[in-house]
Amino acid sequence: MSNDALNAVCPYYTMYPLDFPLRVLEQFGKQGDWVIDPFCGRGTTNFAARLRKMPSVGVDSSPVAAALAQAKLATATPNGVAASARAILMAAKEPTLLPTGEFWKLAYHERTLVQLCQLRDALLKDCTSDTRILLRAIVLGALHGPRPKGAPSYFSNQSPRTFAPKPRYAVKFWTAKGMRPIDVDVLSIIKTRADRYLAEPPPNVDGKVLLGDSRVADTFTDMPKARFVVTSPPYFGMRTYLPDQWLRLWFLGGPDYVEYRHPKEQLEHSGADHFATEIGRVWKNVATHATNDARLIIRYGGIHDRDALPMDLLRRSLLDSGWKMKSAKAVPQPRAARRQVVQFGAEPKKAIAEHDVYCHRA
Ligand SMILES: C[S@@+](CC[C@H](N)C(=O)[O-])C[C@H]1O[C@@H](n2cnc3c(N)ncnc32)[C@H](O)[C@@H]1O
Repeated sequence: MSNDALNAVCPYYTMYPLDFPLRVLEQFGKQGDWVIDPFCGRGTTNFAARLRKMPSVGVDSSPVAAALAQAKLATATPNGVAASARAILMAAKEPTLLPTGEFWKLAYHERTLVQLCQLRDALLKDCTSDTRILLRAIVLGALHGPRPKGAPSYFSNQSPRTFAPKPRYAVKFWTAKGMRPIDVDVLSIIKTRADRYLAEPPPNVDGKVLLGDSRVADTFTDMPKARFVVTSPPYFGMRTYLPDQWLRLWFLGGPDYVEYRHPKEQLEHSGADHFATEIGRVWKNVATHATNDARLIIRYGGIHDRDALPMDLLRRSLLDSGWKMKSAKAVPQPRAARRQVVQFGAEPKKAIAEHDVYCHRA
C-alpha cells in the first residue's frame, strides 16, 4: 500500500500520469506553494500537490471530473466509507425513479440497480462530508467495467471501464454473448475498494475543487495567488468528454440516456482560432490569480481528425495571455499518448506527440 493509491479511484479519459505533476512540483516548487489546475479532470494535479503538501484549487466543467477531483482532496477511513454506504442502504426506501428499458435490464441485476439508485438518491440529497465525497468517487469507479474471473469488482455486466458503453451496441453485445448481469454484493465491492484506495491516507492540505467554467473570470474570485498552474486543456476536436461518461453523469443526477448535445460549459470546438481564443481566456484568468514569479506548465497533445497542429494552437492561445512560453519538450512516451486515443476507438494515423510546455509570467 502507498499513499498515492487514491489517485486510481476512477479512470478518466485523457488523464495524465501522476508522475508528471509530481515531477514538476518537486522540481520547481516548495511546500505551501498554491497550485491551480483550471482543467483539472480527475484531479491528478490536485492530488500531486497534496502529496507534495501544497494547497491547490481545481476547476472543471464536467460534473464527473469535479466529483472525482473533490475526492482527491478528501480524507476518510475505509470503515467510515463502508459504514456510510451501509447506513444509506439500510435507511433507504424504494428508489424514487428506476431507469427502465433493455439497456438497464442487461447492464445491472435488478437488485444492484435498486441499490445503486438508493445510493444515488442519498448522495444527490447530501454529498458534503469527506466520507460521502469518497463514497461517491468509489461508486463512480465501480459503476462499469470488466467481469473478472473471481469476485466481481464492478457493479455492471461486462463493459469498458474508462468510458460508458453505448446502449444499442451494449445490448447487442450482451444478447449475442448471452451475458446476464450478476447479482453482485454492492457493499462488499465498496468495502474492498475503500480498503484499496484509503488504507494509507495522503497528508491533509488546504484546497478546493469547483464545478465551473474556467473561461469565466468570476470562477476564480476568492482564490489565493498561485505559484503554479499545471494543467492539460481539452484536445481540439475531442468532443466526447461528456457522452463517453454518460453512466457516471447519470449517477450524478443526469439523464438515464446518452446526451449528445455539446454543453455550453465545455470549450467550443467550432474552429481552431476560436478554440485557441477560448483557451487564451483561461490563461488570462489564471494569470490574474498567479504570483509574479509563477509558472504555467501545460501538457498538450491532439487527435488526428482535425487539421490544426496542437502546438500551433497552443502557441496562439498564449499570445497576450499574461504568460510567455519559455520551452517545449516532446513527451518521451509515444505509446502512452497513443493509448489515450486508441481507447476511444479512434486509430491515430501516426503516433501523437504530446508536449510539455513551460511558461513564465509575461
Ligand atoms: C485533458 S482533460 C484534463 C485531464 C486531467 N489532466 C487529468 O489528469 O484528469 C481536459 C478537461 O477540461 C475540461 N473542460 C473543458 N472545457 C472546460 C471549461 N470551459 N472550464 C473548465 N474545464 C473545462 C473537460 O471537462 C476535461 O475534464
